[in-house]
Amino acid sequence: MGRTMYDTGEECWGDNPPFRAPVFVLTHRPRPTPVKEGGTTFTFVGEGIHSALQQAKAAAGETNVEFAGGASTVRQYLEAGLVDELQLHVVPALLGDGLRLFGGLESGRRSLEVARVVDTPLATRLKHRFVK
Ligand SMILES: NC(=O)c1ccc[n+]([C@@H]2O[C@H](COP(=O)([O-])OP(=O)(O)OC[C@H]3O[C@@H](n4cnc5c(N)ncnc54)[C@H](OP(=O)(O)O)[C@@H]3O)[C@@H](O)[C@H]2O)c1
Repeated sequence: MGRTMYDTGEECWGDNPPFRAPVFVLTHRPRPTPVKEGGTTFTFVGEGIHSALQQAKAAAGETNVEFAGGASTVRQYLEAGLVDELQLHVVPALLGDGLRLFGGLESGRRSLEVARVVDTPLATRLKHRFVK
């Protein structure tokens, strides 16, 4: 995840954050690693997206690595072609402004296929896979 997501979530996640896994935070302002309950650690990575992904893959072993956000972080991994699947949760509310998740991508058009749709009254959860 990016440092802005971490900074905005840190307080409300509390002592037992929902991740329950090692988390790697992209930042220009590294700090010591907090160890939380439930298996969550936050490692601050100052060497860029490839280093963070390498560390996350090593921690994940055979399981998947998730890019949590925010927009800047997701855009960098999309631009580098390192994302296999994209999960979007669309909620029934119009905000009228906000950050552009896909703004400024220069890597050109890429095709996606729908892998799963889960519709609930609170959100529609869309899972897409990039077509190779
Ligand atoms: N809806 C969702 O699921 C969801 C999920 C996540 C976040 N969000 C929201 O998205 C917003 C944050 O998005 P964002 O795009 O502003 O921020 P972000 O991606 O969370 O973080 C951006 C910050 O991360 C650090 N960073 C990013 N790339 C880096 C790199 N390559 N090397 C070193 N440091 C790097 C920089 O922080 P420093 O220079 O300060 O270290 C940068 O300002 C928040 O409002 C959050 O609530 C929503």
